[in-house]
Amino acid sequence: MGQVLDGTNITIGTCYYPEHWGREMWESDLCRMKEAGIEVVRIAEFAWSKVEPREGEYTYGFFDDFLDLAQAKGMRVIFSTPTATPPAWLTEEYPEVLNATRDGDLIRHGSRRHYNYNSPVYREFCANIVERFASHYAGHPAIIGWQIDNEFNCENWEFYSESDNVAFRRFLKDKYKTVEKLNEAWGTVFWNQTYTAFSEVYVPRRTNTWAVNPHLHLDYIRFISDSVCSFAAMQADILRKYLKEGDFITTNGMFGHIDNHRLTRDNLSFYTYDSYPNFGYCVDGFQPDEPMKDRWWSRNLTEVRSISPRFGIMEQQSGANGWNVSMEAPTPRPGQMTLWTMQSIAHGADYISYFRWRTCPFGTEMYWHGILDYSGRENRRIQELREIHRKLANLQEVAGAVYTPQVAVVRDYDNQWDAEVDHWHGRLQRQSEDALFVALQQEHVMFDYVYLDDSVTAGQLAKYSVLFYPHPEILTPQREKLLEQYVAAGGRLVVGCRTGQKDLRGFCVMDNLPGLAAHLTGTDVPEYSLAAPDESDVRVDWDGVKLAAPVFWDMLAPTGADAKVLARYEGGCYAGEPALICNSFGSGETYYFGSTFDVENVKVFLRRLGVAEPFAAIVRLPGSCELAVRKKGAVDYIFVLNYGKDAVTVTLGIPMFELVGAQWEQGEVALDGYGVKVYRH
Ligand code: GAL
Repeated sequence: MGQVLDGTNITIGTCYYPEHWGREMWESDLCRMKEAGIEVVRIAEFAWSKVEPREGEYTYGFFDDFLDLAQAKGMRVIFSTPTATPPAWLTEEYPEVLNATRDGDLIRHGSRRHYNYNSPVYREFCANIVERFASHYAGHPAIIGWQIDNEFNCENWEFYSESDNVAFRRFLKDKYKTVEKLNEAWGTVFWNQTYTAFSEVYVPRRTNTWAVNPHLHLDYIRFISDSVCSFAAMQADILRKYLKEGDFITTNGMFGHIDNHRLTRDNLSFYTYDSYPNFGYCVDGFQPDEPMKDRWWSRNLTEVRSISPRFGIMEQQSGANGWNVSMEAPTPRPGQMTLWTMQSIAHGADYISYFRWRTCPFGTEMYWHGILDYSGRENRRIQELREIHRKLANLQEVAGAVYTPQVAVVRDYDNQWDAEVDHWHGRLQRQSEDALFVALQQEHVMFDYVYLDDSVTAGQLAKYSVLFYPHPEILTPQREKLLEQYVAAGGRLVVGCRTGQKDLRGFCVMDNLPGLAAHLTGTDVPEYSLAAPDESDVRVDWDGVKLAAPVFWDMLAPTGADAKVLARYEGGCYAGEPALICNSFGSGETYYFGSTFDVENVKVFLRRLGVAEPFAAIVRLPGSCELAVRKKGAVDYIFVLNYGKDAVTVTLGIPMFELVGAQWEQGEVALDGYGVKVYRH
């Protein structure tokens, strides 16, 4: 049987739970799926007890029967390891496998993901069940790949069990070797936190001030990531022994406190994402003036692409969000299921699996709708699915094409996590990252996220004409060198305030700021300040254009002959002082902006750096539409996605063939509300 994500086709699938339904329903469900265009089902991720109903008692017939039937019906299967939901017999007998709250209360059976990654007992049970699943099922011809667990760190990304204390100490001992080194790295002399033995160290506990020691906290997040990666590696190592040739290993989701790049690089064939754009409309968090709503998922897809350039969607929204305890959102409107599918494809996913085939009439997720409602009757969503399948037949040539932007937003895990620990850093980071996304979307500039880790080379950065690295507070000599090489070779780097002010431990550097970035940016920061609440009207004048300067200001001074002051503060305590410095460095330039980014000031950067509206000569589109381009050889596939409910007009600069409707179009073209066009250029 053929594979998914091999660059030759776009495939659709669904998530199916044979254990939720009477066996007599399986066959007709599979036949109906096939008739609607579904070629793959993902199963078993919560079904431990179907194979090991009691400790040490194994029964394989249930999934044997399902797999045989799937094979007979020509359905391919992604099989999952069931470790996200340990059985009741296990947690009752071995409570040490449970996660705990920060105060040490155990998190009990009755929901999901209640385990901790570090319990040796849980690891042993998991190794055993994965071995059993893999040795028994992996040879089955219906299986094409494996999903490990389900959504690592979903719902909870903090771990406070006794096993975590023990593992944290081990992690720290590996890292620092001696308790003296640990004391140094965490600055424990402050407030008399000095340890005399590793046994005195704990994962964060309740403390008297707002937070625990920030350097401990940062290492704790690194430790959680390390725990997830080693838990996944334990499973991947077992699966690999049994995989058939060509079968893949993946996992799904994308949650906090995980170095997903490492997770993927070390263990997976590719990553899969779970895309629920209607979270943008969840009643709880709904903000009527939020301009992007379901477009935030483009940002998540951009992040997934960074983790795994080849990726699929394991769970694509097909019905309303709804747990019976939270997260209510409307049913996707006609066209939205198609729009969101195309959003995933536009960003590079060639495998789209809908969550879920049938809506479950019981349990916490009884209002989380799938394609079919409780009765299974014919409905609008399965009709839309058939339509999607028909449209995808016209889009097959897009498979394997690559999203190729000219701009990247640079990140690294040290700064992402430090921004969680450090309130100041977090404010800047959120402000600038959100603004960058909105401005890039509205100016129709495609972008990648690039995470700087040891594997990234200047050659890989060279394809971007502009890098935004909004607030690299933590800077390492290695990353600084990489940025130097990028700029020297002709790149343009834009950074914001607080650049270079910390080291890897999260200590403030005792150099003049911007620390390691001083040479590259030709900038000195003699002074800085948070904006006071009554100073929100401070502006920066850049050749007559007034830019906002929210949250924070670095007062700047140029150093060296190649550094030019481009803009100065107007108002505030640094009125008249430099606010933006451009430094020529080799063949490129750096731009040090002394403040944070907002939507309008990013747009000015994009325009002045000549990267706004890169496809304007070919297609002009309103702000409610996203532009995304996938490239294959000399051909560009230009996706235009209308997130608004009203029809809009798109203007083509040249006649182009539109793949969904299979016709030539030119001039002014009407695009329906939630409509999608895919042009071949
Ligand atoms: C995902 C998860 C699924 C299901 C779905 C809807 O996060 O992987 O198992 O829970 O959300 O809530």
